[in-house]
Parts: sequence; structure tokens; C-alpha cells
Amino acid sequence: MVIIIPQETLPFESKYWPIKKYLEFYKKSLEDPEFWAEEARKIDWFKTWDKVLEWDPPFARWFVGGLLNVSYNCVDRHYQTWRKNKIAIYWEGENYEEKVLSYAQLYREMNRFASILRKLGVRKGDRVAIYLPMIPELPMAMLSTARLGAIHTVIFSGFGAKGLADRVNDVQAKVLITADGGFRRGKVIPLKKIVDEALEIMPSIEKVIVVKRANIEVEMKEGRDYWYHELMNKAEPYVEPLPVESTHPLYILYTSGTTGKPKGVVHSSGGYLVYNHSTYKWVFDISDESVYWCTADAGWVTGHSSIVYGPLSHGATIVVYEGAPDYPAPDRWWEIIEKYGVTIFYTAPTAIRMHMRYGEEWIKKHDLSTLKVLGSVGEPINPEAWLWYYKYVGGERCPIVDTWWQTETGGIMISPTPGLDYMVPLKPGSATFPLPGVDADVVNEKGEPVPPGIRGYLVIKKPWPGMLMTLHNDPERYKETYWSKIPGVYFTGDYAIKDSEGYFWLLGRADEVLKVAGHRLGTMELESVIISHPAVAESAVVSKPDPIKGDSIVIFAILKHNYEPSESLKKELKEHMRKNLGPVATPDEIFFVNKLPKTRSGKIMRRVLKAVLSGAQIGDLTTLEDEASIEEVKKAYEEFKRVVSG
Ligand code: PRX
Repeated sequence: MVIIIPQETLPFESKYWPIKKYLEFYKKSLEDPEFWAEEARKIDWFKTWDKVLEWDPPFARWFVGGLLNVSYNCVDRHYQTWRKNKIAIYWEGENYEEKVLSYAQLYREMNRFASILRKLGVRKGDRVAIYLPMIPELPMAMLSTARLGAIHTVIFSGFGAKGLADRVNDVQAKVLITADGGFRRGKVIPLKKIVDEALEIMPSIEKVIVVKRANIEVEMKEGRDYWYHELMNKAEPYVEPLPVESTHPLYILYTSGTTGKPKGVVHSSGGYLVYNHSTYKWVFDISDESVYWCTADAGWVTGHSSIVYGPLSHGATIVVYEGAPDYPAPDRWWEIIEKYGVTIFYTAPTAIRMHMRYGEEWIKKHDLSTLKVLGSVGEPINPEAWLWYYKYVGGERCPIVDTWWQTETGGIMISPTPGLDYMVPLKPGSATFPLPGVDADVVNEKGEPVPPGIRGYLVIKKPWPGMLMTLHNDPERYKETYWSKIPGVYFTGDYAIKDSEGYFWLLGRADEVLKVAGHRLGTMELESVIISHPAVAESAVVSKPDPIKGDSIVIFAILKHNYEPSESLKKELKEHMRKNLGPVATPDEIFFVNKLPKTRSGKIMRRVLKAVLSGAQIGDLTTLEDEASIEEVKKAYEEFKRVVSG
């Protein structure tokens, strides 16, 4: 199906572009050696680069010799213009509290915040961990860290003590910024208490800054813990933005892979900012009139590029919302769009499907006519959800930009481009074409392009400025994960199909990575947490399709001999997962078994478990070590279905 919004209905000047013409333009962008240099001139540099790209495969260094500061680009350069009194951030608390910050206020607060970080000893290259709820101090902490040339690691505030400590220990952060607590569905999450627990195993942390958000009692250790508001009372008004090399890391962000250990994705300053600055224009048509709202948490890459660095580098107004999408009622989001006159709205398919279930009556109560572009990210969007989003949220006026990208890519790679004056006609469920300068293709294991309509692996054949520089402390793993599966190209880990017109259709992960409500979780990571519980001897985690969340987590566990299966143990294990990795990691079901299907070499055959859950053909079993294990798994599942159906 092709959706063509009538030209007179389109909320901006964009025109449709015949596919052939887009592909011509696109091809030219790939061949033009000056293409990214032109783009890089759109941000401010203290010193221009000597060389656009140094490509020592698989390590790319963009804009080598250039000096810049990302906080300067996101705040100072707007502060110095008429935008000074323009709104930078509309913040809304879950409890309806409001805070509005102009660029001038953001500038003042960011400078003061940077001065207190400096006073606590933060210098260029130091790592600063940020574990905050969605409050204005979160983007401010990121910008202030960048101002000093320090490197931030934002840790999603839904993670428990172990998830937090693992990441902090890996980056060896010396300062941690947190809050007393955060709100979620009216309940207080005691963040400082979780931090205190984690601090027992995070020896690198010397200082903790605590923002007062929830007004709850917390323990403060003299000489280590400081209240943010007390430090800010003594802050200095201005801190010189430190010019850093283009290749100086801006942040390290952890994401799940196929082993138990999360990967610390390292992003540069110059290439990353240039890439996001350009793509936010192409994809969202971001402008001075934009009120941009991305609903992601800043703990994920979307929150980095789409809440902070992309929109603020353009001087746009952003909306930051603290709470749950349906709290206190299912129209909370629609209420926010109406209240702030949101023009660009960016969310995940899982949330769209949840709102579909609540029904469009909740939308119809609100005036959403300010919307111009709707975005989707994080997982494939099914055509049904696409059409619902298009019809009810966008009023059949707004193009939907289905944006494919990853933590590693730093920014959007495949998407329609309403901001390029022209865009290709949209097809619900397809992210359309790669962006200019992005050499993406669908290939087989040998790296040969597959014919239209055939599933293959999505790869990127040339470096792009937003790409990760490496994995923190692990360049070997960087090479092995992304550049050796198919030699010479970046391996995304995703399946895709190109149709006969060349449109890309993304089909989800080709590896052991789950997407639960848009959050990326590795099976091995989940397994290593479940076996850290004293009752569990061995375990296998698999995903099961879920109509709203995309994937749901199912655990098969073998208990140690002195433990008995019971409902209370199941509950305890669910709580163990939740506490360690946060609510998204809560399993939907846990099955106790005595054996797991394994190959003769001892590898768990997760596909067999998946087949049992979905009732599909189990397929080739020649490598299976012990057939009885399948009966075990089937029995546990049948028993479960019997109990559920009463
Ligand atoms: O499988 C793809 C899926 O999300 C993965 C990347 O996850 P993460 O690093 O957490 O970043 C998510 C936000 C950028 C990809 O490998 N994915 C992301 N966007 C899409 C998508 N799958 C299909 N369509 C998309 N638009």
C-alpha cells in the first residue's frame, strides 16, 4: 500500500519526489567527497578540520583536527542570538508540575552546573555517570559535562543497583549525578537508596550529587554526597566551553549485545553532532517554529540524539515529560501535545499499540492540529499501528517518519525525508530509503546483495559521521561484533528486505537480542542475572511475540537440587530480575524444567524453546543432545496453558 497525502493537505512545503529522483540525489551524496564537509559547516567550530575522514578500517575518525564544544553548539550559539528568550525546554512532571526554561535560563543553569562539576574535580576525559529521572537537570547534566570536555554515561533510571554498578564500574566514573527519587505512576522510585546499595560495589565514585525531586528522606554521607541545590547556591555564573578535538568522546552509552556483558558504545563529539544536526533537518524538517517532543527516556540513545543533541543544536523548543504515557489517564500524551502545541512527535510502536488498545476516543478529546510530522523508532512498526497513528494522531495530514537506527549508529539511518523539500511516497511498515550519505544494503552471508523480496542482513557499506568510534576498552569486540561477520561492512544485526522499488522493510533482529517495549535486552545478559539468584542452576531466556510489547521475556530455569519449584519462588525470581535490570526486564513467564535442549557441544538451542512456545515446527534436531529435554519443555508449557485456561 502506498500513502500519498494530498499536496494541499501536507502541513509544510514538502513535495513528493519520484523514487528515481531520490535515488539519483542519494547516489550523488554517496559519491561526493565534499558531502559531509558541507554538512559540517552548519555547526560551529573553534577550529575547522584538516581532514574530513581518516578511515583506518574499521576505525573512522571524522573531521580530524577540528575543535568544537557540543554544549556551545546546543546552547551558547542560540543564547547569542534572538533565541536567547526563546523557550528551550517545556518540562512537565508526572504530577502536573511545570517548568519552562528559555535558552538564556538553560545557558545560566548549564554554566552553573558545569562550575560545580569542575569544583568537584571533573576534568576533560573524566567520566560522569548520570542516573536521573526525566527532569530538566538531566539534559543540563549532559550539556554541563560536555562543556568541560568530560564524558557522560547516562544510566536509565529504571535500572536497579546491579545494572547501575556494572555500567559505572566499566567506565570508572568518578562523579555520579542522581536524585532522591523519581515519580512513576504516582509512586516514588527511591533512586538515592538504589545508589547507596550500588555504591558498595562502585569504588570509582568519589562524589555523588543529589537533586531533590521527590522530597523523600535519604541518607547523605558527609564528604561524598552533596545536595545539588546547595552546590548551585555557590556556583559560578560562567564556565568557558572547552574546545575539544572532533574525535574526543562525547559520551559512552551501554547497550545490550549477544554476550552477558553490555557494550559501552563510544560516540565522538564532532561527527556525532554533525550527523544529528543534519539528519534532524532532513527527517523532521525541524525549524525555529518546532516544538519537538520525543517520548523516549534519556537513558537510551533516542534520548541523547532526539531529546538533547539533535533538537537543541537547531535551537528548537523541546518537551520533556517525566512520567508514564497513560498516567493518570490514557489521554495524558494527547493532553501534552495540545497544551504545548507540539509540532513534531516521536515515539515507539509499542506505545502506539498500547494507545490503540485504549482507543481513539481519548485522542478525540484533544486538538492535535499543531502536529506536522510523526516519528516512530525502536522496532518495526506494523502497518496496522502505522495506519492508526496516521489517521487518529496525525489526522491524515502528517507524514510518518519510520526511522531505523541503533545506539551504535548514533543517529537516524533509514527514514523518509520531509525536511529535504521532497520525500518519497510512504508505505506503511517501511522505513523507505537510506538517508543521503548512508550506504545501506541488504545482503547474504557472503556480502552479496540479495534480490528484491528476499530476506537478508542489513549492512552499511561506508563509514558515516554518527557511527560509534569503538566499544569502551574493547576495540577487539568492536571489530568482531560489527566488522567481521561480513567482511568489510558494518553488520547491523538486523534482517531486512528490499522490495521491487527498493524500499527497505526492517524485520527485527537476526541475533539473540530482544526488543521488549522498544528496549534492547540481550538473552545472555538476562540469563546471567537469573542465574545470579541462589536457587537457579541453569537457565535459558527466549522471547515470545507480544501484541503490544513486541517481544516478551520467557525464562526456562533449572533449579539447584535443594530448591523446589513453587509460585512464590517464581514471584521471587521475577522480582530479582526487576530489581537488577529494571521493570522492562520482568519476565512474563518462568518455567521450571529439569533439562534444557542443548547441542552436543553444550549450546542451548533457544530456537527449540521458541518453537515450543509458538507451536511452530521444531525443525532440524540432528545436533540435539538429549531428546527428553524437549518433552520436559513441552510438559512445562502444557501444564502452564492448562493452569492459565483454568
Ligand atoms: O532491531 C532494530 C530496532 O532497534 C535496534 C536498535 O536498538 P537500540 O540500539 O536500542 O536503538 C533503538 C533506537 C534507535 C535495531 O537494531 N529498530 C530501531 N528502529 C527501528 C528498528 N526496527 C525496525 N524499524 C525501526 N524503525
